[in-house]
Amino acid sequence: MTAKIVVHNLVKVFGPRPRLALERLKKGWTKKEILQKLGQTVGVNNVSFTVNEGEIFVIMGLSGSGKSTLIRCLNLLNKPTSGEIRVDGENIVEYDHNQLRKFRQEKMAMVFQQFGLLTHRTVLGNVEYGLEIKGVEKNKRREIALDALAKMGLKGWEEKMPQELSGGMQQRVGLARALANDPDILLMDEPFSALDPLIRREMQSELLDLQSKLKKTIVFITHDLNEAFKLGDRVAVMKDGSIVQIGTAEEILNNPSNEYIAEFVKGIDRTKIVRAKDIMQRADALVSLKDGVRVAIKEMQDNGISSVFVVDKERKLRGIVTIDDCIKAVKEGHSLVEILKQDYYTTKEDAYIEELLDLGVKTKYPIVVVDEERRILGIIVRTSILAGLLGNTNQD
Ligand SMILES: Nc1ncnc2c1ncn2[C@@H]1O[C@H](COP(=O)(O)OP(=O)(O)O)[C@@H](O)[C@H]1O
Ligand SMILES: [Mg+2]
Repeated sequence: MTAKIVVHNLVKVFGPRPRLALERLKKGWTKKEILQKLGQTVGVNNVSFTVNEGEIFVIMGLSGSGKSTLIRCLNLLNKPTSGEIRVDGENIVEYDHNQLRKFRQEKMAMVFQQFGLLTHRTVLGNVEYGLEIKGVEKNKRREIALDALAKMGLKGWEEKMPQELSGGMQQRVGLARALANDPDILLMDEPFSALDPLIRREMQSELLDLQSKLKKTIVFITHDLNEAFKLGDRVAVMKDGSIVQIGTAEEILNNPSNEYIAEFVKGIDRTKIVRAKDIMQRADALVSLKDGVRVAIKEMQDNGISSVFVVDKERKLRGIVTIDDCIKAVKEGHSLVEILKQDYYTTKEDAYIEELLDLGVKTKYPIVVVDEERRILGIIVRTSILAGLLGNTNQD
């Protein structure tokens, strides 16, 4: 893993005497005391974290906890009061005017909650805007903008004005505009919070799809825990300007670092958080097509199981055989291929338990987790779905 953004002891104070506030913070004053005694607001209080290249790093917290202040520090829309922000190893806090302009044009793009589109420009004009400022030649920028819009499903809408589009579509334009610059890093400040729940879920899934292709480094802000856990490779929880816990959804759910987070995660629906890959086991017992019936029987006996999955030489799933069918096949001289059954269920590693509950009830066999090529990644037995629901998913 390569570190893309490293934030070290970042502080942002709003007020006329930030240095004084900083001094008092170092002496142990709280955000509340600084507000009461100095009349200044600590937006971000001594925050440190690393965002890895290619990950979606979510910053989650209630309104007023400092999320926007923090993300606006990352592109220096807010000038930090103290601390370092290293991007690809360079401390951007020390950048001069030119370096900063170049950095914003080339490395980072931001998507805002209220879309932030220019109302007097067409959809296409909005997406072209950043490229125009960057000095990209006219035909070239049109080509790039059209392509970005097409990728966001907005073909045919290029000449409309933003106001003519629904909220969801306006935010697609926002995303297209951000992606047109092909930045390494996407900053997203509650980009879906203004959208209806259904559209919102759709956009979340699309973002995940998009990310699996683009592999940007994304810092995503939300006040919604479900959204945080759905999207985040890791989640940082903020309170009163500080980060109170950083971890994967699993880690935070299973080991909330304090009462505040425990309270926060109490109402969470695990079926929408825990994924197939979190609860799958290694498929230790497998039989290869070329091995034949007798090997299959031995494999089942050795592992104390009554059915076993059959794969080809590339480990791609071909079917399942039962012990009874195998014994019969030996007697009647049938081969493994002839007794293969297909009445099992497969799933993808990113599927949520929610989708597996139903299968878990219906199936006679373990559910098989396969990749795009139907190679077996693992299997899920009924009890591990239950364990996943109860929060006990350590089963190796
Ligand atoms: N420009 C500003 N001037 C003064 N105070 C600010 C400014 N921006 C944010 N704050 C304060 O900083 C704190 C954190 O705000 P913000 O980062 O917007 O929280 P969030 O995005 O988590 O809702 C709040 O107390 C807010 O009032
Ligand atoms: Mg905010």
